[in-house]
Amino acid sequence: MNILVLHGPNLNLLGLREPHIYGKETLDDINAALAAIARDHNVELRILQSNHEGALIDALHDARTWADGVLINPGAFTHYSYALRDALAATDKPTIEVHLSNVHKREEFRHTSVLAPVCTGQVLGLGWRSYTLGLTGLIQLLEQNKPHAE
Ligand code: DQA
Repeated sequence: MNILVLHGPNLNLLGLREPHIYGKETLDDINAALAAIARDHNVELRILQSNHEGALIDALHDARTWADGVLINPGAFTHYSYALRDALAATDKPTIEVHLSNVHKREEFRHTSVLAPVCTGQVLGLGWRSYTLGLTGLIQLLEQNKPHAE
């Protein structure tokens, strides 16, 4: 099973950036926690962080041919990127949208996700655990939907 993990803009600064909102864990810490879960479940992860919308879109297009599912924290693109939404729709894989913070408790502009309608589910507000729970849930979903060998 192959899963693409995408981290959007500014998430390279995790641990340094507004730690009272996003926590003190770094992106490397989160990726290590995801890699440990993947190892336990025999899943291959490919992980990309980018501050550029086009790079995230390119990774999604590429994932059409190899990925079984997508775990994505789109950062602020969540709230306005129709291009990323179209790329997720075109990729057409089970996708979990994750957020460290509870975006609904924050500024009004964060209350909308233009991506949510093309995602399978969302996990948010649990800090780094949003990622680990999101990945665990995605793996379970993919396992359940896996065509069984004859
Ligand atoms: C975020 C929430 C977004 O509103 C924000 O722009 C981010 C991080 C989160 O993980 O809580 O960059 O996606």
